Amino acid sequence: MENKSLAEIATSPENSRIRAEIWGDFVGWDDRRRGENGFLVKQLNQHRARSILDVALGDGVDTIYLLQQGFEVSANEYDDAFRQKAIENAQKEGLVIAPTALDWRRLDEKYPADLYDAVICLGNSLTCLFGRENQLAALRQFRRVLKPGGALLIDERNFQRILGNREAALKGELHSQGKYLYTGTDKVEARFAEINEDYIIIEYFYQEKGKKAYYKVYPFPLRELRSLLQEAGFSKIEQFSDYQPGNNPDADFYQYVCVK
Ligand SMILES: C[S@@+](CC[C@H](N)C(=O)[O-])C[C@H]1O[C@@H](n2cnc3c(N)ncnc32)[C@H](O)[C@@H]1O
Repeated sequence: MENKSLAEIATSPENSRIRAEIWGDFVGWDDRRRGENGFLVKQLNQHRARSILDVALGDGVDTIYLLQQGFEVSANEYDDAFRQKAIENAQKEGLVIAPTALDWRRLDEKYPADLYDAVICLGNSLTCLFGRENQLAALRQFRRVLKPGGALLIDERNFQRILGNREAALKGELHSQGKYLYTGTDKVEARFAEINEDYIIIEYFYQEKGKKAYYKVYPFPLRELRSLLQEAGFSKIEQFSDYQPGNNPDADFYQYVCVK
């Protein structure tokens, strides 16, 4: 492990295993619901969505909640450790899920076009995929599985604020409000391990267990994701900042509701 760069460790199967193990304590499932304060269900209802595809299941935090709220939810999880964790988490709630395991760019291998009322890609997920063409290919696949008039709900971290305050962010002095998406429990401490224009490495440290995991993410510059969404063909895009309508430069996260 010692000779490997963090970027290499971040993409290893061992890292995936630890990340899936500690993710629930990083997310803080109840706090995510408190943070979004009904935003997800409200948006789904406003778009008359009943059938939903969660393309980034993770450990199941949003899919399990939506199933419990009575939505019909299908899910995809590319990462083996997350997929297994989500299945176990669903079982604990008395639910059975059968996620597919596709790369977003190949959703069409199992999902027909025009199938879902809504697609959700939440938790700062698209940033895990590097390369403009890859990101566009994924967004086009999300759009493809939506019924005409269906909505994609997608979010991103406000990376511009991090890139613009790099030194403070690395020192842990760029304080996010920490109350919206990844509120965490106090068991997992997150920090920026590396920040540059090409990638950011986030470290998750589970103190009690002495375990560390990483995510390597692409820091979308200001307005880039929005313009990719337009290029992918979405006709109407509404932006929210920490779940409030509009574009606030100090927000922690941006959400987009995009209509096919
Ligand atoms: C930061 S996690 C978020 C998980 C979950 N949505 C949450 O909010 O906790 C990123 C998610 O994106 C998925 N992902 C990343 N790259 C992917 C790709 N190329 N194809 C499919 N899924 C991908 C990961 O497997 C993971 O589920």
